[in-house]
Amino acid sequence: MLMDPGIIYLSMSETGQALGSDGVATLKYLALAGALDSEEKLSCAALAERLDASTQTASRRLQHLEDGEYVTREMVSDGQWIEITDDGEQRLQAEYAAYRRIFDNELEVELAGTVTSGMGEGRHYITLPGYMEQFREKLGYEPYAGTLNLDLIEESVRARSRLAAFDPIEIEGWESEDRSFGPAYCYPATLVCRGERYEPAHVIAPERTHHGDDQLEVIAPDRLRDELALDDGEEVSIYVTAK
Ligand code: CDP
Repeated sequence: MLMDPGIIYLSMSETGQALGSDGVATLKYLALAGALDSEEKLSCAALAERLDASTQTASRRLQHLEDGEYVTREMVSDGQWIEITDDGEQRLQAEYAAYRRIFDNELEVELAGTVTSGMGEGRHYITLPGYMEQFREKLGYEPYAGTLNLDLIEESVRARSRLAAFDPIEIEGWESEDRSFGPAYCYPATLVCRGERYEPAHVIAPERTHHGDDQLEVIAPDRLRDELALDDGEEVSIYVTAK
């Protein structure tokens, strides 16, 4: 199968409300009408005509998008100002990524970011046995104890949403005696810096990422700072591939 429809069609906004195909079609129209980068004034009647639906249906769909925080709205006497939120854009990006996989056979997303230091939490989580066993089995290596943190450049923060069309390697959540640890997704990646390539590595992310997340965490069998001679501030390209 080309992609996991569960991820694409059941993706939810932060409010946890699922968006069906009607919702996506409405969002797409709103984006085409100019509501993606700025507020756009629209009437329900115009939307209804465009969607070939009744004004009542158009109004309900907008309400649903607003409830799910996919758009913000401001009512005025002769219509409403509508703007697509980050969650809304992320949903459209995922749709776009799915079509790219269908028609362009896109199997790679290129991201770029600068090396940064985190708070030393990566080391703790990566070495927990409940995760380590799964890394060995599912990634085929034992990761170096930590995560390399990258601050994504602005363009890559958007491009990251395209990973939603990829089948991730699923690391399951587990429980210790006193707490539970959440599931994570891993995506195979190649790192390139100053012409040097490194693989295998994996982007690791909590199962549900938030849009606007500008940090990327990477795990690998080796200490990447040594392998690629990385200091904070160094720019790295990350080629994430569909597994
Ligand atoms: O959170 P923080 O960046 O402080 O560190 P960490 O996740 O505990 O990882 C320890 C150190 O190893 C950090 O400096 C990471 O950037 C680095 N690291 C690396 O170079 N290669 C890896 N595969 C994982 C971590």
